[in-house]
Amino acid sequence: MKTRIIMVMSLDGVIAKNSNHNPVEWTSKEDQALYKKITTEAGVMIFGQSTYEAIGRPLPGRLNIVLTRDETHQDQPGILEYKRGDLKTILQDLEHRGFEFVIIGGGTFVNSKFLEAGLVDEIQITIEPKIFGSGLRFVDQLNLDLALELISCEKLNDHTINVLYRIKK
Ligand SMILES: NC(=O)c1ccc[n+]([C@@H]2O[C@H](COP(=O)([O-])OP(=O)(O)OC[C@H]3O[C@@H](n4cnc5c(N)ncnc54)[C@H](OP(=O)(O)O)[C@@H]3O)[C@@H](O)[C@H]2O)c1
Repeated sequence: MKTRIIMVMSLDGVIAKNSNHNPVEWTSKEDQALYKKITTEAGVMIFGQSTYEAIGRPLPGRLNIVLTRDETHQDQPGILEYKRGDLKTILQDLEHRGFEFVIIGGGTFVNSKFLEAGLVDEIQITIEPKIFGSGLRFVDQLNLDLALELISCEKLNDHTINVLYRIKK
């Protein structure tokens, strides 16, 4: 199984001004189309509860896994499933269900936990022509020294680029 974090960020590395800030409010239609294509092909995405609340609904055509410690949420099996606990076990369960490519869809907290656990193979970032100055970063409070290999670099429109990196193991 392969895992990939997919994020869109401002030039100064901000993924959201705050926990309620939804990327669709400030990102390009080209990035949104790319995100939809890749995540639909993968078939499964993992979000933190805050990101899921910012999106506000399950993304169609994909299994939405939402991480939360709150046990009161109701699953919609195959569409929206709430999970908690060990991240490696969650990935192994998805692999047993036949998923070969899992998208980690943020936010900061979830990205950080997956990276810290060494459970990320690739990172794909769109850089939008924005500067926010402050806000949530792609990851936070980590002490890492990961080396990456560039897989691809694409210009999505006149002002937006997308890069895909593989983490060297
Ligand atoms: N620009 C982008 O590409 C992009 C992408 C994604 C998200 N975002 C933005 O990022 C912001 C949210 O990021 P965030 O860091 O505040 O929150 P987050 O990572 O989305 O969610 C954190 C929450 O996830 C739950 N959680 C995480 N790991 C868990 C585990 N192993 N077991 C159980 N629960 C777990 C906890 O929820 P409970 O407290 O419920 O237990 C935790 O409070 C939003 O504004 C969103 O729009 C931006």
